[in-house]
Amino acid sequence: MKPPVMLCVTSGKGGVGKTSLTVNMAFALSRQGHRVLIVDGDLGLANIDVLLALNVKQTIRDVLERGGDPMEAVVYVEPNLGILPASSGVPEMVALGPDDQQQLGDILGSISAHFDYVLLDTAAGIGSSVLWFNSFAARNIVVVTPDPTSLTDAYALIKVLSRDYGLDSFYLLINQVASEQEGRQTYETLSRVAKQFLNLDTTFLGAIPQDKAVTRAVREQSPFVLEAPQSKAAQAILQVAARVAGL
Ligand SMILES: Nc1ncnc2c1ncn2[C@@H]1O[C@H](COP(=O)(O)OP(=O)(O)O)[C@@H](O)[C@H]1O
Ligand SMILES: [Mg+2]
Repeated sequence: MKPPVMLCVTSGKGGVGKTSLTVNMAFALSRQGHRVLIVDGDLGLANIDVLLALNVKQTIRDVLERGGDPMEAVVYVEPNLGILPASSGVPEMVALGPDDQQQLGDILGSISAHFDYVLLDTAAGIGSSVLWFNSFAARNIVVVTPDPTSLTDAYALIKVLSRDYGLDSFYLLINQVASEQEGRQTYETLSRVAKQFLNLDTTFLGAIPQDKAVTRAVREQSPFVLEAPQSKAAQAILQVAARVAGL
């Protein structure tokens, strides 16, 4: 059996679409026959459970505090799609200490044996937990929109991850684009500065259009790949998932 692939979805800036894209990529991968786990890495302000209207009984915090089998905290939304939920409104979870990080690493290591893909959805910002999740994962997907503030935050995050954690390769997923061309241009802009100033290589993972189907699905608390499979956003994320599976 192949070892699980761990991918961290991150951005620096909040509200760019990390959680929506993680959830929909996970559904797409699971529909393609892979066993997928989503880990809600927004440890203090959980969102995955909200986007999927889950009834959460145990969170990552409970597993860290009480120990026991972490698989018992996993909520299955499809036969081969599990969610490891986070807690919400718990400030002390935002910046885990080294011992908790070590323990969380052990938990993720043991739990991931049950899956082909583990998607870590991070919080916004460049706090210690965001950096830790990124350094823990084998691959890093940076979600960025054409907004200049999103670009500068993504660049700042990439800079810290390369300088302080030695990460040297990033996948860029461009969200909320008006056209395929805008997606490509946004990618080129960030890719160029990452190469020029940090000597880093980036890979284009795809562009997701600005699409009302996404907003609607968020309100309905259901993934857009299920709610609106014909939408442009759904078609685009299916392509991204196929690309991720082919990495
Ligand atoms: N491609 C898109 N088209 C339209 N709206 C989007 C798109 N991606 C994200 N959004 C909107 O942005 C909001 C924030 O997305 P979210 O996934 O929670 O971002 P993050 O996890 O980065 O904070 C969502 O509620 C959704 O309405
Ligand atoms: Mg989020």
